[in-house]
Amino acid sequence: MPRLIGFKKKKIAVFISGTGSNFKNLIKYSLKKNSKFEICLVVSSRSKAKGLNYAEKYNIKKKVISYLNIKKAEKNIINELKKNKIDLICLAGYMKILSKNFIKNFKGKIVNIHPSLLPKYKGLNTYQRALDNNEKFSGCTIHYVNSKLDSGKIILQKKVKILKNDTSDKLAKRILKQEHLLYPKALNKVLINS
Ligand code: GAR
Repeated sequence: MPRLIGFKKKKIAVFISGTGSNFKNLIKYSLKKNSKFEICLVVSSRSKAKGLNYAEKYNIKKKVISYLNIKKAEKNIINELKKNKIDLICLAGYMKILSKNFIKNFKGKIVNIHPSLLPKYKGLNTYQRALDNNEKFSGCTIHYVNSKLDSGKIILQKKVKILKNDTSDKLAKRILKQEHLLYPKALNKVLINS
C-alpha cells in the first residue's frame, strides 16, 4: 500500500477485434485494490465484436474504428486518445495493422500480446505453424509495437509446452490461459518504470 501513495493510476485504452477475453481480464485486474492502471477506453475494429459487451457491462467508453476510411478513422481515434490523456495503448486481439503515422503518435506507448514465442511465428496461424514444425514449446509474448509486424522490443514471454496429440484449438486454449496471467504482469512492469 505505501508504495502507491501519490501514485496516479495510468490511463489505458484497449484495442480489440473479437472475443475480448484479454480485455475482460484486464478490466478485472484494473478493479483490484492497488492496481496501477484504469481502463478508460476500448477501441474495436469491428462494431459487432463480442468484447464490446464488456464495455457496456463495466461502463467503459467505446469507439469503433471504421476501416472504410481508415485515414479519417485513425485521425478521430488519435484525437480521442489524446483527449482522454491515454498513457498506454494495449492491443488485445486487435487484428488490424496500425499505420506508421498512428504508431509515430504514440511512440513507445503501444504494447501488444501475441500468441507465440516471438520472434518465432509472427502473424497469423501461430498455433498450427508451431505444431507443423514439431516445436516442443510455444507460448505468448507481450511486446512494444513498432512499425514492423510483431517485431518490437519484448517485455515478457511465457512458454507453454506442446503436448502429444495437441491440436491448434487445444494449444490456443492453454496459451490464452497464460496470456491472462502475463498481460497484467507485463503492464505492471511497464507502468512501474514510466
Ligand atoms: C489472443 O490469443 C491474442 O494473443 C491474439 O488474439 C487472441 C485474442 O483473444 N492476438 C493476435 O493474434 C494478434 N496478432 P481475446 O479476444 O479473447 O483476447
